[in-house]
Amino acid sequence: MPSTVYLDHAATTSVLPEVVAAVAATLGQVGNASSTHGPGRQARSTVEGAREDIADALGVHPSEVVFTSGGTESDNIAVTGTFLARRAADPRKTRVVTTPVEHHAVLDQVDHLVAEQGAAVTWVEPDETGVITPEALQDALAQGSGPDDVAVASVMWANNEIGTVQDVPRLAEVCRAAGVPLHTDAVQALSQVELPLSGLGTGATPDLVALTGHKVGGPVGNGLLLAARGQSPVPVLRGGGQERGLRPGTLDVAGIAGLALAVRHAVTDLARHAARVGALRDRLLAGALRTDPSLRVSGPWRPGDLTGRLPGNAHLQVPGADSDSLLYLLDAAGVACSAGSACTAGVTRPSHVLLACGVPEDLARGALRLTLGRTSTEADVDAFLAVLPQVLDRARRARAAS
Ligand SMILES: Cc1ncc(COP(=O)(O)O)c(C=O)c1O
Repeated sequence: MPSTVYLDHAATTSVLPEVVAAVAATLGQVGNASSTHGPGRQARSTVEGAREDIADALGVHPSEVVFTSGGTESDNIAVTGTFLARRAADPRKTRVVTTPVEHHAVLDQVDHLVAEQGAAVTWVEPDETGVITPEALQDALAQGSGPDDVAVASVMWANNEIGTVQDVPRLAEVCRAAGVPLHTDAVQALSQVELPLSGLGTGATPDLVALTGHKVGGPVGNGLLLAARGQSPVPVLRGGGQERGLRPGTLDVAGIAGLALAVRHAVTDLARHAARVGALRDRLLAGALRTDPSLRVSGPWRPGDLTGRLPGNAHLQVPGADSDSLLYLLDAAGVACSAGSACTAGVTRPSHVLLACGVPEDLARGALRLTLGRTSTEADVDAFLAVLPQVLDRARRARAAS
C-alpha cells in the first residue's frame, strides 16, 4: 500500500523521537509524585524539573504552570472556573464575552454556563477573515452594564480551522483596561507564532492560556493551563489538592517529561519551523488556485506572511462540492486531511467558523483544511496537487448528481 500523505497536523502531529524516548524511559520508573518516599521524590523532581523548563521556555513563572490532560480541560478550567470564581466573589459578574469562532472546548462551556448557570454572553463578531479587532472587543465589554458585569473574556490565539492569528497582546490590553481577565486558547499557536507571555496577567499579556502537547510533538493527553498568580478559577474536578488545587489527580510523570521536551522544542525551533511550513503552505495554496481559480482561501493569506495566518494552515472553500466527498476521494488517493476541526469530523453541518466569517452556506459545505507540520515535505504538497484535479471533478459530479 502506498504511504499516506499526512496533511492533518492541526488535528494531531507526529511525536518527536526524543519525546518518545523520554516518555518510555520515565514510564519505566515507579513513583507517585505526591508520595514522600524516595521513588515519590524522584517522580516529583521530574515533574518540577519539567515545570521549570516549561516556565523558562514560555517566559512565565513555574507557579503559573498547571499540568492538565490537554487543551479541552485547560479551556474548561479557565472559562468555567473563572466564571464561577468571579461570580462567587461578586454576584453581578454574570457575563461572558467571547467569539463565535472559538473551538468547541470553549463554545460548549459557554452554552453550558448559559443553560446551567444563568450566564449571559456577548459575542464579539470577527471580520470576514476571522480577525477580532480590539475595537470590537472593547464594544462587547462595554455592553450590558459595562465591563463590571463581565466574569471572563475568551478569545483564541489562533483559529484551528482557518488559521487566523489574533493580536492577543492588544486584546489583552483592552481587557486589562476594563479589569476583565482574558483567557486565550493558544493550542494551535504554540510552535507556529511567537507567544509573548512574560509578565503573565500584567500589561499586554493574557491572564489564562490553554496549551496542549499533541499539537507540538508531545504526547496526547498532556496539556497545560497557564494561570497568572492572581487567578484562582474554581476547579472543574474535585479530589486531591495537586496543581494549586486547580487540577487534582495523580500526575502523569512520564507524559509531563515528554511535554516539557516538546514545549522547549516548539519554542526554540519556532522561527525555522514557521519559515519552512509557511513556504509549504504558500506552495500548496498557490498550486491549488492555479489548478482551479474558483477555489477560495479562507482566513487571511498573504504569501510569505508568517504572523497573520498560521504558517502551517491552508484552508480552501470548494464551490460546487461537499467536504465529505472531497475527504473521501482524497483519502482514497492517499491524502489524509480534514474539513475543519477533527473533533467535529463526521458532522456534516457547515463549519461554525466559516459561517461566523460570513461565508455562504453553500461554499462552507465544501471546506477543506490541509495542515502542515514537522514531517511535511514539498513532495507531500505536490502529491496533493497532483490528485486535486480529479478529486475536484469527481466531488463536483457527486454533488451535481445528488
Ligand atoms: C484550538 C483548539 N482548542 C482546543 C483543542 C482541544 O485540545 P485537546 O485535544 O488537547 O483536548 C484543540 C484540538 O483540536 C484545538 O485545536
